[in-house]
Amino acid sequence: MSTAWFSKALLPWYREHQRPLPWRADRDPYRIWLSEVILQQTRVDQGTAYWHRFVDRYPRVQDLARASEDEVLRLWQGLGYYSRARNLLLAARQVVEHHHGLFPSDHAGLLGLKGVGEYTAGAIGSMAFGTHEPVVDGNVYRVLARVFGIATPIDSTVGRREFRALAASLLPHDAPGDHNQAVMELGALVCTSKAPDCQECPVRARCIAHRSDRIGELPVKAGRTKVRERHFNFLHIRSHGRLFLEKRAAKDIWQGLYQLPLIESTGALDPKGLGRRLKADHGEGWKIVARHGPVKHVLSHQVIRGVFWALDPPQGFKPPAQWIPVRSKDLERYALPRLLERYLVPA
Ligand code: ADE
Repeated sequence: MSTAWFSKALLPWYREHQRPLPWRADRDPYRIWLSEVILQQTRVDQGTAYWHRFVDRYPRVQDLARASEDEVLRLWQGLGYYSRARNLLLAARQVVEHHHGLFPSDHAGLLGLKGVGEYTAGAIGSMAFGTHEPVVDGNVYRVLARVFGIATPIDSTVGRREFRALAASLLPHDAPGDHNQAVMELGALVCTSKAPDCQECPVRARCIAHRSDRIGELPVKAGRTKVRERHFNFLHIRSHGRLFLEKRAAKDIWQGLYQLPLIESTGALDPKGLGRRLKADHGEGWKIVARHGPVKHVLSHQVIRGVFWALDPPQGFKPPAQWIPVRSKDLERYALPRLLERYLVPA
């Protein structure tokens, strides 16, 4: 059955109701790419503020390509999933070094950029260059599952394939970028997960979930992947008006960010347990002054339980070479994971 009605109803609605988002003002692939990467991490209202930070600091892709990783991570601070920020920088350098500073205009070329997957390539391609590629994000899954009454789990391989094929079949010949944004906009403004405003919906009359009263049941998720629980003991060592930070280097969460020196343990540590670990790792004579936490910090596949230990170091303590002494007023120069920022730089 033809599905042309979907875009026909949606596009006029979008043209009337769309939010005036700054990256929609023109078809600049650099600005669109920045917005799409940021919006994978946060909602439009917060994302817009971050987008302005990036565009003000790096007006062109060449400016971003010249930035340092520390600086980009600092601007990204608070958005989480920091590999996205590192990939942002690497992709900007790819564009400058391998594409003469111009974003590739075809899907395969876009997919060759660091951190750009099907979603981002489809978004940049359709919005900046008018290519016929669908985009499927959380909003799109929700809208399509409801309107077309699809109960295939959206977090399954078959589901992803089915929704992608449906999204592709709905693309109109003209304005694929507007169409893609219209579906996302409908999901963001009307077909929301908790309290959809069906009275305002331009495709209500054909919506299967609405007709069969299944709005609350769609979309279907198969189930979450198991989350891993980790115990982080942060050492807040006060010494000569400074504390120490170290840079996270390992292939792990928060790579490239700064943190208080860390002792990770398999379970929660009490003061005795921490004392034993301190002695083993850094010698005798530590004094525990205070404990803060545990503070629960939820990431997509991990739950971190962070405990902050205020410590006096032993007499004549020689910190390891990789520890950086930092004054409180200089903390703002370092990109910190949110969990540490909340503790070290309370609002
Ligand atoms: N979410 C991510 N990108 C979007 C866009 N371009 N329009 C609306 N919502 C979005």
